[in-house]
Amino acid sequence: MSDQSFEAQSQTVQKVAALFDPVIQNLANLALVGKQMHWHVRGATFISVHELLDEIVEHALEHADNAAERVVALGLPVNMTKEAIAQNTSASSVEPKFIQAAAAINIVIGAIDAVRDPLKVAVDELGDLDPVSQDVAIGILGALEKDRWFLHAHISID
Ligand SMILES: [Fe+2]
Repeated sequence: MSDQSFEAQSQTVQKVAALFDPVIQNLANLALVGKQMHWHVRGATFISVHELLDEIVEHALEHADNAAERVVALGLPVNMTKEAIAQNTSASSVEPKFIQAAAAINIVIGAIDAVRDPLKVAVDELGDLDPVSQDVAIGILGALEKDRWFLHAHISID
């Protein structure tokens, strides 16, 4: 990015921020959904799912922090306000009640997939814009897919 003019650089940074904002908002949503399921999960696999969900929430917040701080390091603000999270996340809504483990896992997988979609767009488009930001996005995607596997293994039969 350093060999670009200031105007080109500022346009590039705006594009980077626009690619990371939906990722950050959906990671915040994943953290909210994950905690809600952490508290309310029921069933024979309770303890493993309960503990795994706490790890997934922790990872989601770490990923949001990494993505946000990359944007801020480049000089722009990010938007993880409650309004932005409510407007820009599409994961299924969660009710404040107890839930069986398989259903809880499916809801959290849905929230992970809602991060994965804008994250894959970011990985694709950041390659030409800013490889350092792309590296951040790739790191998040790999870690997120590992968490998805850990969750999915609880309900998969093959
Ligand atoms: Fe807890």
